[in-house]
Amino acid sequence: PHPRILVFAGSIRAGSYNKRLARLAAERIARSGGHPTFIDLRDYPMPLYDGDLEADQGLPENALVLRCGLADHDGLLIASPEYNSFITPLLKNTIDWLTRPHEGKSGLELFKGKYAAVVSASPGGLGGLRSQVLARQLLTHIGVTVLPDQLAVARAGEAFDDQGRLKDEAQGEQLDAICRRLVETLRSLKT
Ligand code: FNR
Repeated sequence: PHPRILVFAGSIRAGSYNKRLARLAAERIARSGGHPTFIDLRDYPMPLYDGDLEADQGLPENALVLRCGLADHDGLLIASPEYNSFITPLLKNTIDWLTRPHEGKSGLELFKGKYAAVVSASPGGLGGLRSQVLARQLLTHIGVTVLPDQLAVARAGEAFDDQGRLKDEAQGEQLDAICRRLVETLRSLKT
């Protein structure tokens, strides 16, 4: 069995370091025998969560598409940028919409029992580590088991080479190890 892992970043800008890290992770997941699906949240725009909008129109079309995507995957890998020591509103908003009920089914059920890995990149010296803590907390509260492994790519502007790989070998190995552990954990649960 090749565990299916949904991979995305909490940033939509074209030059996003976290998207770069997520793409790299997707490559490593495939190399470890997993089946990654990299998605760019730029392709799934949603309005800011609004209870009135939800009452009037239900979930945004893109939230429904992502719910189906989530249902079709065993695990998640999220690259979480840091804004003011926090996760991005994009990441929070996306998860908030996905957890809402639709046609009598709670979105929380889609997350419950899944496994995830969280990584981050930032131009700063901490590499977005503080956002990882919050992303972990959020995911844990909605029933996702998050691997304890951490990779925070600091000074991200200089951390990637022309091919988008991590220049620092030890960091590359850390990413490898995280992806491998996620694939192996999911595989052991599937058999
Ligand atoms: C930031 N940035 C930032 N970086 C960091 O390490 N700690 C922080 O607290 C913050 N705070 C912050 C607030 C806001 C509003 C913005 C827009 C940015 C910098 C941030 O890490 C940088 O913009 C990254 O490049 C964002 O991630 P992507 O888009 O490269 O994936």
